[in-house]
Amino acid sequence: MTNAKHDMVFDALKSCPIVPVITIDNVDDAAKLATAFWDAGISTAEITLRTPNALACITAMKKSVPALCLGAGTILSADDLDHAIAAGSDFIVTPAVSSTLLPALKSCTLPVFPGAATPSEALELYDQGFEHVKFFPAEANGGVKALKSIGSPMPHIKFMPTGGINGDSAPSYLALPNVVAVGGSWMVDKAAIAEQNWEQVEKTAAQARKAIS
Ligand code: 3PG
Repeated sequence: MTNAKHDMVFDALKSCPIVPVITIDNVDDAAKLATAFWDAGISTAEITLRTPNALACITAMKKSVPALCLGAGTILSADDLDHAIAAGSDFIVTPAVSSTLLPALKSCTLPVFPGAATPSEALELYDQGFEHVKFFPAEANGGVKALKSIGSPMPHIKFMPTGGINGDSAPSYLALPNVVAVGGSWMVDKAAIAEQNWEQVEKTAAQARKAIS
């Protein structure tokens, strides 16, 4: 798929290939959070649909920092997908794919990173039209070694691994030719968010950004 949204998302991932996975519920914090990550040099973020106000947070973040590429994560159903699109998401991330979710993802015009945990799942998704998949949960499924092995027979399938990755392991993932970006919560300072200490949120994210430069 090539369209403006596709270019926006993949240009953003090229400029900064670490994607903070953020679980947030306070809509009043959303704008400040978006600004803190953007000012830290982070160009994308995934907001998980795991809180009652996650969708409203996506809308508020997008409104405050339109250039920040926002993905909706934890998409488990076609309804989740519809709501995420309506909220203004730029891309879609799923931890896994079901027989009902798959057709909805295939008809989505936004970039989609469907979840795969095995080579068979990744190949099936590629055959269904997805060139980029989320490798989840990355560390629990063999991490860098597994992705390196999968890359030998299937170098055309590109991955965004998430799950258990941290600042120490991220560079090894990013060094693989079949990895376009890595996601995770290690660059999200939850304590600072709870304290609404936006300076510290930015500092933690900037450190993570610097560590992969
Ligand atoms: C998730 O689903 O929460 C993401 O994969 C992030 O995982 P992490 O908290 O282990 O980085």
